Amino acid sequence: MPRVSLPITTPRLTLRSFRPGDEEDVFAYRSVPSVVRYIPGEPKTREDVADLVAERATAGRVDERSPILTLAVELDGRVIGDVLIHLAGLGGADGRQAEIGWVFAPDLAGQGYATEAARALLEAAFGSLGVHRVWAQLEPENTPSSRICERLGMRREALFEKASWFKEQWTDLAIYALLADEWSAGTTSSAS
Ligand SMILES: CC(C)(COP(=O)(O)OP(=O)(O)OC[C@H]1O[C@@H](n2cnc3c(N)ncnc32)[C@H](O)[C@@H]1OP(=O)(O)O)[C@@H](O)C(=O)NCCC(=O)NCCS
Repeated sequence: MPRVSLPITTPRLTLRSFRPGDEEDVFAYRSVPSVVRYIPGEPKTREDVADLVAERATAGRVDERSPILTLAVELDGRVIGDVLIHLAGLGGADGRQAEIGWVFAPDLAGQGYATEAARALLEAAFGSLGVHRVWAQLEPENTPSSRICERLGMRREALFEKASWFKEQWTDLAIYALLADEWSAGTTSSAS
């Protein structure tokens, strides 16, 4: 059974399971309308956040019954965002694929924290989880998110016009992806 060993640490961050006590930090960014503009759902209430934190307390296990792994990203004791991977095709002969996503507190934008956390999650996906392909879907006008994909070495594979009914309107949808082989080649060449 695939499992991510937690916590994952990076030079500045700790990626870990959510736990009781994270609610205020998560509410601080998940309740902001501009933060949820490009992600499903409305700004979260305190009650929503309490449920979210409780549901996402996980031991890093990912399986058919629980294919989504969401991790809290901690900086100096504060949860500043969350990253997720949603595995599909677990056990399938065509190899595993995973969608990746991220949401971060706007007051710390532009310092590379989201990119650093996403890179660590990619490492875990291609490493411990043995994923074959990681992909992301986003609205092309969500430039900060597109730039994360590009910094991670993901390729823009497709642009579907007015293909997604999202927040009461038809929106364009960009797909970015990265294969395990490309990730290995990139990390090997950047390490040399
Ligand atoms: C998408 C989102 C996570 C991007 O946040 P962000 O602050 O732009 O991303 P980062 O924290 O990785 O910051 C990247 C910037 O930091 C800069 N940076 C500064 N210090 C850095 C460092 N030490 N390492 C790497 N980058 C650094 C980079 O150069 C980059 O700047 P640029 O975009 O001008 O090139 C954020 O906008 C968000 O949470 N949005 C709402 C939720 C959302 O839309 N999610 C995606 C749905 S598809």
